[in-house]
Amino acid sequence: MDYLQIKGGAKLQGSVSISGSKNAALPVIAATILSDKEVTLTNLPNVVDIRTLLKLLTMLGAKVTHEGTQAKIDNSSIHSTKAVYEIVSQMRASILVLGPLLARFGECEVSLPGGCAIGQRPIDLHLKALEAMGAKIEIIGGYVRAEAPDGLRGAKIIFDKITVGGTENIIMAAALAKGTTTIINAAKEPEIVQLCKMIRDAGVEIEGIGGSELIIHGTDRKTLDFQPTKIIPDRIEAGTYLCAGAITKSAITLTDVNPEHIRASINKLESMGCTFEIGNESITIHPPQTIKPVNLITTEYPGFPTDMQAQFMAVAVMANGESLIEERLFENRFMHVGELNRLGADIWLKGNIAAVHPVKALYGADVMATDLRASSALVLAALVAEGTTNIHRIYHLDRGYDNLEGKLSALGADILRLKEPARS
Ligand code: UD1
Repeated sequence: MDYLQIKGGAKLQGSVSISGSKNAALPVIAATILSDKEVTLTNLPNVVDIRTLLKLLTMLGAKVTHEGTQAKIDNSSIHSTKAVYEIVSQMRASILVLGPLLARFGECEVSLPGGCAIGQRPIDLHLKALEAMGAKIEIIGGYVRAEAPDGLRGAKIIFDKITVGGTENIIMAAALAKGTTTIINAAKEPEIVQLCKMIRDAGVEIEGIGGSELIIHGTDRKTLDFQPTKIIPDRIEAGTYLCAGAITKSAITLTDVNPEHIRASINKLESMGCTFEIGNESITIHPPQTIKPVNLITTEYPGFPTDMQAQFMAVAVMANGESLIEERLFENRFMHVGELNRLGADIWLKGNIAAVHPVKALYGADVMATDLRASSALVLAALVAEGTTNIHRIYHLDRGYDNLEGKLSALGADILRLKEPARS
């Protein structure tokens, strides 16, 4: 197993290219199931989650050629519609194959993802919506078994809660359904917009793209024919590098980024004293000498993303006053608090609110990554901690950050990936 060793205190400088978005790529890969022709995807990030989903498709019978940032996926040879526990338990987003498998093949079995470090994360809303579209669903032996022998039909879906994965599953299912599906209270994330455009470019009429009411005119076709699709930049990776600039008080430039997608993070960093130069596909952060505290509440896009909460908490630790951070999406997404406190932070939790008190300095220590974004918060804190920090269990980071140590070290950080010593 690998760990990261970071010696704190280095100033960063230069520019970093932002990779394709993991969370946009996953539904796009799942959507290729709706086609029986080869689909070309470009700008894929080099992260474990992408390889895991491609492996799942291969297990279903797809032919996948994956090299660097490009994949060619041919789903004409799918011979199984069962997404097994071994894969789904590694990555919850595997549930995204449920909608497209059911829509194309009229049946499928997908392992229930279960909870994870950040919370219970049920999929009840996905299932309820598919049932409204005519699917018969049973939970047997830890699997969701879904059937729609006569195909899915359009329906009016009102999500009780805004769900990114649920919205994506229903968009994909609705594309091949008979009749019109209306999704009310749909998620509006840029990843949803990318999925809608990919499906629209395959000839499916979709109204309201980017809004909270989506109308998908089902094609009643067996399959779709997709254009080559370039994955949008990763807004969470981009936000994380902005936080790296802010916490180390270094001016750095992000390239290959969509500044519009990171408005919420930029606004909060501005309130902490940072200034920005914003281009079409680039952004330079100029941090202040003294970071101001911040109050933030996580919410759905275009609000402040839960996936940036941990990184902002790391930056807030170095502010000159108390910050309040409220997590509204995931009940247990504060696993990084204990680890940040091991580095010398002074964070108090009450329910879903963290009070971050200022400290003079952080000090290197051994810490443990607990989930993907919590891990990057530890990396950020380690960049300014005095001495050496060893971050263990970084397989969480590898799920979602493309070459994090390479990119940070090119910016000037003192960061190494090392092997844990073998235990006897
Ligand atoms: C996606 C992102 C994840 C991000 C999250 C919220 C991917 C691969 N993952 O996760 O990085 O943190 O959006 O922005 O894109 N819920 C239910 N029932 C359901 C579905 C969801 O109660 O059937 C709840 C969840 O527990 C959570 C909230 O709704 O409290 C939002 O979850 P959702 O938007 O579905 O998150 P994911 O799609 O899993």
